[in-house]
Amino acid sequence: MATKNDVHLKAEILSKKYGDIFCIRVFTRRFVFLNSALLIRKLLSSVKYRDVTNDRPQTFFKKHISHDGRDIILKDFDERLVKLRQIVHRSIKLYGEGIKVFENMVNTEIRNLKQELWNSTGEESFDLDSAITFSLTRVLYTFLTNEPATDTKDVCDIITTYDKLINALFSFGNNMIFTFFPWLRYLPGPIAEIWRKTKHSQERLYDLFLNSSIKRRMKSHGKGLLGNIFREAEVDDQIDDGCIKGVLSNMVTAGFLSTKGALAGFFLLMLYYPEIQLRIQKEIDDNIDRNREPSLDDRAVMHYTNATILECLRFIGHVPFGVPHLTREEVEVDGMRIPANTMLITNLWVMNRSEKVWDKPGEFLPERFLDNEGKLLPKEHPIRLQFIPFGSGRRSCIGESFAKSRMFLYVTSLLQTFVLSPGKNKLPPLDPATWKPNVAMQPDFLNCLVRLRPERKIS
Ligand code: HEM
Repeated sequence: MATKNDVHLKAEILSKKYGDIFCIRVFTRRFVFLNSALLIRKLLSSVKYRDVTNDRPQTFFKKHISHDGRDIILKDFDERLVKLRQIVHRSIKLYGEGIKVFENMVNTEIRNLKQELWNSTGEESFDLDSAITFSLTRVLYTFLTNEPATDTKDVCDIITTYDKLINALFSFGNNMIFTFFPWLRYLPGPIAEIWRKTKHSQERLYDLFLNSSIKRRMKSHGKGLLGNIFREAEVDDQIDDGCIKGVLSNMVTAGFLSTKGALAGFFLLMLYYPEIQLRIQKEIDDNIDRNREPSLDDRAVMHYTNATILECLRFIGHVPFGVPHLTREEVEVDGMRIPANTMLITNLWVMNRSEKVWDKPGEFLPERFLDNEGKLLPKEHPIRLQFIPFGSGRRSCIGESFAKSRMFLYVTSLLQTFVLSPGKNKLPPLDPATWKPNVAMQPDFLNCLVRLRPERKIS
């Protein structure tokens, strides 16, 4: 892509020198890097600051990709945003009856994925990365439309091509290049090429999900996120075409890339640490009958598995900067005056790797999230409070429970049935500092050997 884009690594060096908060200036813009979870909580969530720290900066992408910020991710904080967030929460429905609906949607798809893994058990190499990608795009399709994806190859191609372009373009460096030099897209060269491809890919996405036949079906059944939002649009004229396109684009990018990166990171860790994989399998065997599929109810007793998922999110830190915030008014915090219109960068990358916060941050130690009895530390424990992979406060990730639940089901279902090992496959490096520095990072590939666990079968 256009730049080297390793701003998160440079910011890590600066944070070692300047501490929890520092400011840099690029041309006319100020960026304040927030390098501690406690400081981020204070600035984004506390009553004192939250009314003036939860907007989004004006950028090229806000204008040209997110339909003038009429989506969720790049919208300023206002009543409309609250309403759009509610519509998405209602569609995710991870409460009451909704939990079983969600479980059915994900488990139906996981059965297909398990069949693919089973088919590969005689092979020396299985492309787990592509299999997870395919599988997640099918879940996403059903989440959006409440229908199973039929032409899955096409759906997967449209979603992943779009996501790849947005992932690279929206990263810190490229985002700034487009914001400061938007005219570069008119000059022949790589910037113009990337821009042309992105717009073309966006049109393909809209054709797939917003064509007249899908609109008719969604409006009639009113289910899935699109059904919900079309129904809402009938009674609320502020939910216009740009807004629907923006929300769709948000779900397809945020809803896929982040979980895909997390799952790819998780299974890579399992390949590097077979003893941890074995311990998760033991916990599965101790708590889940081998003849039934894992369910979200099992989470309550799967302490080690939950701790490993959290430690994976910490270790890979794959959404290094979250999404930038903007100050609406001047604020003063910890002796620093932050003027209005300053970008606040939530430096999740540094937080996850800070020696001030974590004991041996470079080591993968799920136990750090367990108490002396092997139980998961409660959310209000000081260690958990230092860990905010989904952000904090009014703009925190809308898909947190969706992402964690989906991860739990994928991890437990696959490890209940299969053993994954590198075999003769070359593994990508485990150190996320070497991964491609995009908005959401992930290992480059994930080829492995898949074997059925003793006495397991695919039903
Ligand atoms: C492991 C998975 C995920 C991680 C680590 C993650 C992380 C984040 C982070 C750090 C933010 C920015 C918070 C802030 O602005 O301070 C965010 C925002 C957001 N995420 Fe996620 N996310 C994940 C999965 C998902 C999923 C599955 C969805 C959709 C179903 C989603 C939808 C969104 C949306 C719409 C926002 C913007 C919220 C707003 O601006 O008000 N995310 N996420």
